[in-house]
Amino acid sequence: MTRIFNFSPGPAALPEPVLKQAQQELLNFRGLGVSVMEISHRGKEFMDVAEQAEADFRDLLQLPDNYHVFFMQGGASLQFSMVPLNLLGEKSTADYLNTGNWSTAAIKEARRLCDVNVVASSEDTNFDRIPALDTWKLSKDAAYLHITGNETIGGVEFHEYPDLGTTPLVSDMSSTLLSRPLDVEKFGVIYAGAQKNLGPAGMTIVVVRDDLVGLARANTPRLLDYQVYADSGSMANTPPTFAWYLCGLVFKWIKSLGGLTAMAEINSRKAKKLYAAIDESNYFTCPVAEADRSWMNIPFTLADAGRDGEFLELAKARGLLNLKGHRSVGGMRASIYNAVPEAAVDALIEFLREFEKREA
Ligand SMILES: Cc1ncc(COP(=O)(O)O)c(C=O)c1O
Repeated sequence: MTRIFNFSPGPAALPEPVLKQAQQELLNFRGLGVSVMEISHRGKEFMDVAEQAEADFRDLLQLPDNYHVFFMQGGASLQFSMVPLNLLGEKSTADYLNTGNWSTAAIKEARRLCDVNVVASSEDTNFDRIPALDTWKLSKDAAYLHITGNETIGGVEFHEYPDLGTTPLVSDMSSTLLSRPLDVEKFGVIYAGAQKNLGPAGMTIVVVRDDLVGLARANTPRLLDYQVYADSGSMANTPPTFAWYLCGLVFKWIKSLGGLTAMAEINSRKAKKLYAAIDESNYFTCPVAEADRSWMNIPFTLADAGRDGEFLELAKARGLLNLKGHRSVGGMRASIYNAVPEAAVDALIEFLREFEKREA
């Protein structure tokens, strides 16, 4: 069987060696005669898996000791609620930067719980950039500032994160975490749904600086309180054990390639060549401002949108799948996460050139 080149935005491609190892261990995990899905999350065998995954994740990000790592459920979407529930404390206002669909979704959810001050927005230019830092109107007394590190739909990514002094910086990193090194100490909270660069859907990883744990109000439901995850090692209820195990395999795979510095080299090379091919072409266009272009999600449009269907059909016949852009923006989008091999990007570039020639 041949595997196709998968440009899905998420759930996304997983590294082939990880899938093979999972397959090989599926029926008989470490000689136990059962799969890893069929054992207690509190038993020694699974605790080893859980602890090793956290240790490797910490190692990859060089996480300082004053940061907790929580393995949770509910996706990044649940963090849209948990962040205000846990960080507001006695405050009533939170700052949000609006750079696209996912920031907008986070803002909408936060508005149920607090006064949201939108510090800046790029909506008037169709979310094609990150608003310049000197235009952000920060409030004096915000509990935190929320940003979206990488807008998966719009393809807009931070390449440098701001220093905000004492206001905690919170970032939705769903589609960029572990794609490159990160200066974690700039952040109060980082969260990510796993289904792009970390593992399968069903797991959400949340990194919280320890002074931001324990601020939730007394009536906060137990499983929405970061303190409960800190006290229980993310085992206050049954965690998604198979997803946790797979994330652990993905962390080992990233380490085997040389960690995040090596990952960044590969990812920037993949992105640069794809953007160059789009920019050189007279047929394809990337709508995102050059300085803020994502390394992970690359949107592009055809000169004739009437050809979108044909483009996707021909791409599929070549084994290039899931290139359709999000329904809210149209066009195409190539998601080229860690597990999408460079050969996939090369094959896509070759296809773009051929398609353009054909249309000329
Ligand atoms: C940046 C970003 N934030 C949030 C979400 C929502 O994540 P989930 O479906 O895990 O709740 C996604 C999903 O694609 C995303 O890309």
